[in-house]
Amino acid sequence: MNFPEGFLWGAAVAAHQVEGGNTNCDSWLLEHVDGSIYSEPSGDACDHYHRYREDIALLANLGFNSYRFSIEWARIEPEEGEFSIAQLDHYRRMLAACHEHGIKPVVTFHHFTSPRWLAQRGGWESPETAALFARYCERAAKHLGDLVGLACTINELNLPILLHKSGFLHSDEAIITSRWRAAAARALGVQAEMFSSFPFCVRGRAVEVLLEAHRRGSQALRAAGQFGVGMTLAMLDFQAAPGAEGVRDRIVAEAHDIFLDAARADDFVGVQCYTRQRLGPDGPLAPEPGAEFTQMGYEFWPEAVEASVRQASAKAQVPIIVTESGIATDDDSRRIAYVERALAGVGRCLRSGIDVRGYFYWSLLDNFEWLFGYRPKFGLVAVDRSTQKRTLKRSAEWLGRIAHNNKI
Ligand code: BGC
Repeated sequence: MNFPEGFLWGAAVAAHQVEGGNTNCDSWLLEHVDGSIYSEPSGDACDHYHRYREDIALLANLGFNSYRFSIEWARIEPEEGEFSIAQLDHYRRMLAACHEHGIKPVVTFHHFTSPRWLAQRGGWESPETAALFARYCERAAKHLGDLVGLACTINELNLPILLHKSGFLHSDEAIITSRWRAAAARALGVQAEMFSSFPFCVRGRAVEVLLEAHRRGSQALRAAGQFGVGMTLAMLDFQAAPGAEGVRDRIVAEAHDIFLDAARADDFVGVQCYTRQRLGPDGPLAPEPGAEFTQMGYEFWPEAVEASVRQASAKAQVPIIVTESGIATDDDSRRIAYVERALAGVGRCLRSGIDVRGYFYWSLLDNFEWLFGYRPKFGLVAVDRSTQKRTLKRSAEWLGRIAHNNKI
């Protein structure tokens, strides 16, 4: 199968997961507090902050034509209203390195981590955050806009809601009463209820703030440059067992559709999908007996990508980019099998007329997988973190060849 001309073939990363030494953000704090729910700290990560040139060259040499990465708000605005030209220049150099290698940069302006000063004033639960995010977008885009290929405002805008609805993470109550939240607030000298970080925010308060931040952030980005702007969404292929159709429809409406409706005003929507979630009348069901699991404990279900692309396209009615799709495994042949099936699904979407513009594998490097630390291996490229040596996996060459030929 041939893919459309100009189809974006890339790999994705996020600043905090690969850069290393991102000490001024809320995640770094949460990795170190009493009662931390992170299995280990991010530390030097993959030292991508210093090694981005080699990593971008490697991506280009493999045959890819695009790179999705995030810029770090905690570095760019280390204290409220203080912007660092030196850090913006760092990201300018990264963008320039992409262009030197014929790589289209897809820049995410917020990928889970926020500056500590934001987290201590209510973070994503505070209505003021939308304007603060828009100001940061405006300043960053003014400095970088001429080199940006496409912009994603907030990575997985709906994640806090999705985690809750799918039963993947703690309830609001558990977040509010957690030891780690109280410890983080104490470290920053504020009351516990003031501390809020993105994936673990109290959802009832966050939906409107997130949507408003996306709206205002997009406006600021559009005003500053000539690139397309969109949100990315975490999507699960929710499948209803008999009798659970109503449950499914409610979850889809709250976790996906509110956001997809808002995406109608955008240039594209980024679909990020890893697995399916079966639902019974009482909520999430365990996978069927005999199911294969990934290192994340997700069911091996690459067809979820096709289902999510179809759903996103039908609702948002804008072009789709698969901005993340991948698998955590030590067995690289399962990675190839997963991506092959995910791409077959993308192919079926294209053949049925859906405007899919790109596919980004998560992730370029084995990196810091948030609460799970460095154990899950999502990368096309292995990283020995004691030497920072990169080693290509067979999947990297395999997917790079597909990218280069623009066909499977
Ligand atoms: C996130 C990434 C994460 C990946 C794999 C996505 O939800 O955007 O930061 O590493 O999934 O779990």
